[in-house]
Amino acid sequence: MTTALITGATAGIGAAFARRLARDGHDLVLVARDGKRLREQATELHDRHGVEVDVLVADLSTEDGIAAVESRLAEPRKPVDLLVNNAGFANKGRYLDVSMADELKMLKVHIEAVLRLTSAATEGMRERGRGGVVNVASVAAFVPRGTYGASKAWIAQFTQGAARDLAGSGVRLMALCPGFVRTEFHQRAGMGTDNIPGWLWLDADKLVTAALADLARGKTLSIPDPRYKALMGVVKLAPRGLLGGVTSRTGRKYGPK
Ligand SMILES: NC(=O)c1ccc[n+]([C@@H]2O[C@H](COP(=O)([O-])OP(=O)(O)OC[C@H]3O[C@@H](n4cnc5c(N)ncnc54)[C@H](OP(=O)(O)O)[C@@H]3O)[C@@H](O)[C@H]2O)c1
Repeated sequence: MTTALITGATAGIGAAFARRLARDGHDLVLVARDGKRLREQATELHDRHGVEVDVLVADLSTEDGIAAVESRLAEPRKPVDLLVNNAGFANKGRYLDVSMADELKMLKVHIEAVLRLTSAATEGMRERGRGGVVNVASVAAFVPRGTYGASKAWIAQFTQGAARDLAGSGVRLMALCPGFVRTEFHQRAGMGTDNIPGWLWLDADKLVTAALADLARGKTLSIPDPRYKALMGVVKLAPRGLLGGVTSRTGRKYGPK
């Protein structure tokens, strides 16, 4: 029996990872801030799939929250075989509309927490000679898109670099770069989604299936959908100025909040 720890497991992509990994027979540690929601989810997954599901309430924008999850990942008697660093959010507004406190909170969750939790998990994995880490970035990593895109670019670069450094150790690391996924993400950020064409939306469960297949294949970067693979091919060739004009608008229409 293996154990997976998933951050941001109460909703969206993280909840889809939890459903899929429980169905596959993995014990789980679910991390997020909303304890009530986590406990309901743990009971449901345990009852449905017979796996052990622990709950760890932690706010990854705080020192205490990150340290609590680091401790769990470093616990040698209860090894974690798969870490999914998925917790994340968007801020409402473009650069200078967002308060410095909110910008720094994003860097704490998207960068500091991902660095520290990946390191806490992979030390033990390297000693055991096996394990995996999925760090959820975004296709926003490949385009100019404020602090959000920059933090996701860090995740993509860091993960691929660490994967290379740990090659041959039995530890796999993969950055997952989804496009638009139907979750609570946009609503939480107060973003309207009317200007995002229907064909660009991905389903969280299908995304997770494709991501886990890519991890099993040993990929270090996963863009798990042919539509987005093609789009990112175009992005590589597009002039940066034109790209910035399009990407700073797309999906950033803010609804009333
Ligand atoms: N949806 C998209 O279109 C999309 C596209 C590309 C990448 N992504 C990335 O995918 C990841 C998951 O997003 P999602 O779309 O599934 O969003 P979501 O439905 O809003 O879920 C976000 C999850 O993160 C948790 N979370 C947020 N802030 C946290 C904090 N400070 N500490 C601990 N947990 C926290 C939330 O739980 P609590 O509120 O209970 O803490 C929730 O479980 C994010 O990293 C996001 O950047 C999303």
